[in-house]
Amino acid sequence: MSASERTQWKSRLGFVLAASGSAIGLGNIVFFGANAYKFGGGAFYVPYLVALFVVGIPMMILEFGIGHRSRVAFPQTLGRMAGRAGEFVGWWALFNAVIITMYYVTILGWVVGMLIGALGPLWEPASPMPNYAMETLPNPQGYFFDTLSSWTVVGFVALVWLANVGICINGARSIESTVKFFVPAMWIMMLALIVRGLTLDGGFDGVMYLFNPDFSAMSGLDVWRGAFSQIFFSLSLGFGVLSVYASYLPKKSDTTSMGLQTALMNCSFEYIAGFAIFSMLFAFAIVPKASTLAMSFFVLPQGIAQLPGGAVTFGVLFFGLLLVAGLSSSVSLVEGLAAAAIDKFRVKRGIVLALLFSVGVLGSMVFALPIVIDSSLAGNGTLGLTLLDLFDHKAFGYGLLLVGLAECIVVGWIFGAQRLIDHVNRHTKFTLGTGYAHLIKFIIPLTITALLVLGFLHECGTLGDPDGDVSYPYGQGLVDPEAIGSTGWSWVADAVPIVWIAFTILGALVMTWLPAARRDDPGDDDA
Ligand code: ALA
Repeated sequence: MSASERTQWKSRLGFVLAASGSAIGLGNIVFFGANAYKFGGGAFYVPYLVALFVVGIPMMILEFGIGHRSRVAFPQTLGRMAGRAGEFVGWWALFNAVIITMYYVTILGWVVGMLIGALGPLWEPASPMPNYAMETLPNPQGYFFDTLSSWTVVGFVALVWLANVGICINGARSIESTVKFFVPAMWIMMLALIVRGLTLDGGFDGVMYLFNPDFSAMSGLDVWRGAFSQIFFSLSLGFGVLSVYASYLPKKSDTTSMGLQTALMNCSFEYIAGFAIFSMLFAFAIVPKASTLAMSFFVLPQGIAQLPGGAVTFGVLFFGLLLVAGLSSSVSLVEGLAAAAIDKFRVKRGIVLALLFSVGVLGSMVFALPIVIDSSLAGNGTLGLTLLDLFDHKAFGYGLLLVGLAECIVVGWIFGAQRLIDHVNRHTKFTLGTGYAHLIKFIIPLTITALLVLGFLHECGTLGDPDGDVSYPYGQGLVDPEAIGSTGWSWVADAVPIVWIAFTILGALVMTWLPAARRDDPGDDDA
């Protein structure tokens, strides 16, 4: 495929499947279940639904609309709306997404390890693999930490990267062919897990937990910030990927309806994923006091191990689901980056993908580092897991919301919300009015700003004890400054914010500053 050739989705269904494949991922299963548990089940659902309707759906319509209008990748889209500053925001978003993609792929590498384990060894009483200091840990926990602390994961990470670039090889065309299988497969696997969970004795109590809002738990800042960050991550907002997917749509497309469909599909999946997870937790009376990853990687598997009907079958089903859902999301992250580089430099897709593969494997390896920094394993972690936690706190907790804020300023104030409304209203059944402009110009930016500022002040201790509010979901205490300090690696915790800021800002500055190759497709933004 030549650099100037932009492929298009063959059908509207292909686009909706690809966009919902991007949205439905680890966020819907691994992170949502853990957040819902952490914030008290039903107490999380109310802020979550508010976040979906006030910010999630409007931002999805915005990202679809701007990409469809400009028909170029995200930095170039924002560049056309707000010049160099806009392009900088676009690249900054992508560099933030690069960090997320790298650890996302690492987690998928661990999923591959667990999927292999689910064929047998995961269900043995203790781990058969040689390990660092975990002889006493029973399975599935022992197996998980063995997987985490083995170099084999690096091979799995390379495999996952290979799958990603392979799926992106022909752009929209090859992505569409893949998601046609992946998305229905995800739904089938999830439905099978739900049926199994709900038919267990006591399984239904778990579902009731999700419908039982605890209004007192909703007064905390944590739960609101958690819900808004979850919506951004889960809907793939702020990554710069949905706009590029929409740029592959034909001109006469109803992006508003497709935005609604994608958001509702994603959130229904997420909602019912909670049924599968909580039915098993309640049926087996398992209390997931551990972290986000722990919930999916060994707390739930503890339940699966006891399932009448076969731990192997349901274990393979569960980790297979994570792999398929995760891959259909990570390909969109890779495509967002690839499209931006192709649109800027007019280089061949194969070259860009080869480069992304090489840099991506190296980057993901950083998060797969099996160096155990807590030899007693009181914190159950490796250096990679700790780095993952620390970077995730910046890229997920701050980065995505910051990008959302910047998008609202560019679109609402610099470009003009009304121009976007005029564009998306051309071919839609759901015409947007001035209420939408108010959302983009005032309500969403003010909400995001309040969450960011209050969250930051809380973490700094200005608004009280910061420890309760800083959430590092993957590890189990290694990022606690005292725990990490005792390992001699405390400088890592100090360096991460600096690396995050330097990497994203310098990367975005360089990419914005580099001259673009001549455009041979002038486009017609308002046509
Ligand atoms: N939206 C993707 C997920 O939920 C990134 O995993």
